[in-house]
Amino acid sequence: MTKPAHIIAPALPGTRQRANGAASAHHQPSDSRRWPARLDLLQSLSGMLLALFLIAHMFFVSSILISQEAFYRVARFFEGGWLLGKPYPILVSFVAAGITALLVLHAWLALRKFPAGYRQYRAFVAHKNRLRHDDTSLWWLQVWTGFALFFMATIHLYDMLTQPDMIGPFASADRVWSGNMWPLYLMLLFAVELHGSIGLYRLALKWGWFSSDKPDADRRRLRHVHHLFSAFFITLGLLTLIAYINIGREHAEHLGERYQPVAATAAERR
Ligand code: HEM
Repeated sequence: MTKPAHIIAPALPGTRQRANGAASAHHQPSDSRRWPARLDLLQSLSGMLLALFLIAHMFFVSSILISQEAFYRVARFFEGGWLLGKPYPILVSFVAAGITALLVLHAWLALRKFPAGYRQYRAFVAHKNRLRHDDTSLWWLQVWTGFALFFMATIHLYDMLTQPDMIGPFASADRVWSGNMWPLYLMLLFAVELHGSIGLYRLALKWGWFSSDKPDADRRRLRHVHHLFSAFFITLGLLTLIAYINIGREHAEHLGERYQPVAATAAERR
């Protein structure tokens, strides 16, 4: 198994104190010494759940590329009408609340690893520039994209939490175009895809997934998969965003009007 130490952020000034502290840690009750490892595991788990959610989310949202009707059906599916007899948009709010809680937990755990204060920041940047090691630079990119996500993801989640009934081909496209959300979505898309794919790459290295007795070859292969993963989801996300923008522009004159499913319009004609 590849040792986690390879990809853990390099030592910062504060960590020397921690190392000194570790010497006296023999005298601490064993349970308290396990907490850093538990928190690390929790950070990995929450990150993995968020990444899995996001992969599913990108596929659901991109159903607009198939047709407006396809996205309409996906959106109604999550309101549970097919199971409960009538649609309950509040189910979407529950999911949004759960994802928000997971995001807050993940961000709180990640804060432990951010440089604390200017001296640690300067020390890390100098170290990174001297080392010129790809994975250390990736870690830095992950810190910044994660920081940006604090703000951008919560704006979108608040929308989904408070307006769960406003999801559909026209309602979503109107929000993207007439509601001026597209610049935020564009930045959010790059931030979250880079953050998520770097995160999964680092998880695979850290926990030794797919590892063999050739660590260098493993790392090269994982890096390749990571680049393909980012390119695929950024392309899918951009095409999806363009589709919402186009529908939103065409629909701008009828802002607020909701999409009528094919079955309803056929019944009206009869
Ligand atoms: C339960 C939670 C969520 C729901 C229900 C949801 C739903 C949606 C929907 C319906 C859209 C289409 C545009 C719109 O209606 O405004 C969208 C777009 C988008 N969402 Fe989410 N979302 C959720 C969470 C997230 C999270 C946590 C992220 C990232 C951290 C995210 C990133 C994006 C991005 C980047 C777009 C732009 C679409 C694209 O470029 O493909 N979403 N989301």
